[in-house]
Amino acid sequence: MTETASVYHKYWDPEANPKHAGYAEGRNVIVRARDVKKVYRANTASPVHALCGVTMEIYAGEYLAIMGPSGSGKSTFFNAIGGLDRPTSGQVYIDEVDISQLDARELAWLRCRKIGYIFQSYNLIPVMTAIENIMLPMTFAGTPGDEARLKAKGLCELVGIGHRLDNKPSELSGGQQQRVAIARALANDPAILLADEPTANLDSKTGLEIIVLMKELQVKKGVTVICSTHDHEMLAISDRVVRVRDGTVERVDLRSDLKIELGAIEGH
Ligand SMILES: Nc1ncnc2c1ncn2[C@@H]1O[C@H](COP(=O)(O)OP(=O)(O)OP(=O)(O)O)[C@@H](O)[C@H]1O
Ligand SMILES: [Mg+2]
Repeated sequence: MTETASVYHKYWDPEANPKHAGYAEGRNVIVRARDVKKVYRANTASPVHALCGVTMEIYAGEYLAIMGPSGSGKSTFFNAIGGLDRPTSGQVYIDEVDISQLDARELAWLRCRKIGYIFQSYNLIPVMTAIENIMLPMTFAGTPGDEARLKAKGLCELVGIGHRLDNKPSELSGGQQQRVAIARALANDPAILLADEPTANLDSKTGLEIIVLMKELQVKKGVTVICSTHDHEMLAISDRVVRVRDGTVERVDLRSDLKIELGAIEGH
C-alpha cells in the first residue's frame, strides 16, 4: 500500500475500530477505489494531479457525502467511479469487478443500468419534455415505449413533478429540473446514485427538498447514494462523510461522530 493509499484507512478501519466494524458489519462493498490517480496533461501548461491516490470503500445502501473545496477532485473522482473516465492509474471495482477490464458493451450496460447520474447543471435534453427526458434511459435499455411511459409517470409522481410531465426544461424551475434529472437517474432502477453537487444551483429550501428526496430513495429503495457537496445540510442525513483536499482523502467520519464536531466543520 502506498503512503497516499493509506490515508483513508487511517480514518476508516473496520478491522481495528469497533465503531467502524459495527457500521461495516453485514454491508457489502459496492464501490472500491484503490490508489486511484488522475493526471490531466492536455491543454495545461504543466500536468494537473487531480487525484493523487484515492483509496475508499463505499458500502451498498449507504449515503456517503464527499466534501471538499473547489478543485479538490470530487468531479474527477465521480467520473472515475462512474465509469465515465479512466483513471491514469489505480483500480475502480464495482461489485468487486475491475471496471477497467470491461469491454465497451459491458461498460455501457453499467452506465445505463447500474448507475444513475445527477449533475449540478441537471444536463437535461432541452428539446425533450420532462417525461421524454425520463424515458430516454429506458429507451436505451430497450424498454417498450408504453412500459417506459408508464414507469416515467410513476417516477414523476415519486419526485413530485407529476403535474409537469409535458413541459420542457426551459419551462421548469431549477428545483423541478433537478427532480426530472433524479427521476431520469432512477429510470433503470440503478443500485448506485452518483450525484455531483446536486443542490449547488438551487436555493437552500429547494436544495433541502432535493436532499430529503435522495434520503428517501436510499431508505425506501435501498439505493446507494454517493453525493459530492458543499452543502452542510447534507451532513445531517449522510451516513458517512469523506473529506477530500488536493486530490487525496483528508478525513472520514461517521455522522454520529460529526455531531459533536459540527462547529469545527463549519469553520473548515
Ligand atoms: N479536463 C481537464 N483538464 C485539465 N484539468 C482538469 C480537467 N478537469 C479537471 N481538471 C483539474 O483537476 C482538478 C480537480 O478538478 P475537479 O473538477 O475534479 O474538482 P472539484 O472538486 O469537482 O471542484 P468543484 O467543487 O469546483 O466542482 C482541478 O485543478 C481542475 O482544474
Ligand atoms: Mg466538481
